Amino acid sequence: VEVEQAILERRSIRTFTDRAVEKDLLEKMCTAAVWAPTGGNSQPWYFVPVTVPKTLKLIKAVSPGLLGLPPALIVILSNKSYNVEKMGALGETLAEMDCCFAAQNILLQAHALGLGACVIRSFNGRAVREIVGAPEGVVPELIVICGHPAHTPPAPPRRTEVIQWESFTGDGHET
Ligand SMILES: Cc1cc2nc3c(=O)[nH]c(=O)nc-3n(C[C@H](O)[C@H](O)[C@H](O)COP(=O)(O)O)c2cc1C
Repeated sequence: VEVEQAILERRSIRTFTDRAVEKDLLEKMCTAAVWAPTGGNSQPWYFVPVTVPKTLKLIKAVSPGLLGLPPALIVILSNKSYNVEKMGALGETLAEMDCCFAAQNILLQAHALGLGACVIRSFNGRAVREIVGAPEGVVPELIVICGHPAHTPPAPPRRTEVIQWESFTGDGHET
């Protein structure tokens, strides 16, 4: 799939068939994640693919933004104190940004593999951290749910007026 096509076709997919997500596909998604850019190449992140139904159910139970039960998900976690040590005061913010870049790589790779995926932010971070067994200080930033798509929704419209050539002119939504 061409990059432009992948970017335009990708949708947030929230309903999946019962088919398990093959391990090699999850591996490809994690590889896409670790090749995302990071500030100073500090790579202050971890990726935890989850496919065990019991763990998926536990995570769903503490994630109001996760509708339905996906066959797989990847928890993206940051290590902020490590990144502050490496990158200074900006380290916390950079670590969050890095995780977002990784999430987008995962979404695009999932799409290119014929999978559906959706990024989830609405979850109890402390509970998810404990469920996946991460220590305090390693913080779940985003979850990417994925599976073989059951339904692809139409593209939600984009506000193209936010592209403002050469200087900011505003669109009335800035205050
Ligand atoms: C930072 C972030 C957090 C999101 N959190 C959730 C979430 O908790 N639950 C959910 O169903 N979708 C979530 N989404 C998916 C958005 O709703 C979706 O990307 C948006 O509606 C645009 O649709 P599209 O991805 O199909 O273009 C999130 C997306 C982003 C970027």
